[in-house]
Amino acid sequence: MAFNLDFTDKVVLVTGSSSGIGESTAILFSRLGAKVIVHGRSRSRVSDVALKCTQVSPKQYKPLEVISDVANEEEVDRMMDEVIAHFHQLDVVVNNAGLGGGESNASLKEWDAFMNTNLRSCYQICLRAYPLLEKSKGVIINNSRLDMLTRGLAVLWGPKGIRVNAVNPGQIQTPIWENATGLSKEERDVLWKAVCKKTPVGR
Ligand SMILES: NC(=O)c1ccc[n+]([C@@H]2O[C@H](COP(=O)([O-])OP(=O)(O)OC[C@H]3O[C@@H](n4cnc5c(N)ncnc54)[C@H](OP(=O)(O)O)[C@@H]3O)[C@@H](O)[C@H]2O)c1
Repeated sequence: MAFNLDFTDKVVLVTGSSSGIGESTAILFSRLGAKVIVHGRSRSRVSDVALKCTQVSPKQYKPLEVISDVANEEEVDRMMDEVIAHFHQLDVVVNNAGLGGGESNASLKEWDAFMNTNLRSCYQICLRAYPLLEKSKGVIINNSRLDMLTRGLAVLWGPKGIRVNAVNPGQIQTPIWENATGLSKEERDVLWKAVCKKTPVGR
């Protein structure tokens, strides 16, 4: 299979790109020709990474540097306002900014901070990015520790005799179908048949 690794003039937002995985991601996209947004809370680290991006960019594109705390709704909005006003285009969103610790014995306060940073903000960013991504037929890449929660707790609490498992249901006819779809019974039956047709065993 051939991969297209030419991102020339694509606009790529990498949240939490002031260090770690996000930093490497922003640098890679820059190397591949993209116009990158480098983001984080630390102004100096954001600037350091932006410089590295410019150095590897084939056209020496200087990234847009955005400083904001994604745990704060207004700051996420400001970030997206800045991105949209600057580029009027968005091709790739990498939701990467995040805290560790969601799988540990977090207090509820820590859990709220974790959820706001690692989950709520991603959804908010997706909502704000949607109109531009629809135009560009763009891509969202989520890097989240949430799928690690089950594994993390299983590892941490397993030795205490507590089993932690995940259930990932497919489509199941429960009242949620009635409540969430807003469809009549007849319409739901048609939809259900169509859904069943798409499953390997047809039910
Ligand atoms: N490393 C791992 O083993 C691992 C495993 C699974 C998932 N992950 C996930 O991968 C992502 C990146 O992790 P990493 O290992 O590269 O860690 P990292 O080096 O600590 O980078 C985290 C990035 O997120 C930013 N960030 C954190 N909280 C933020 C906030 N409230 N607002 C804005 N930016 C924020 C940081 O920017 P500032 O410090 O400048 O604010 C930094 O750029 C995280 O979501 C993490 O949960 C990591």
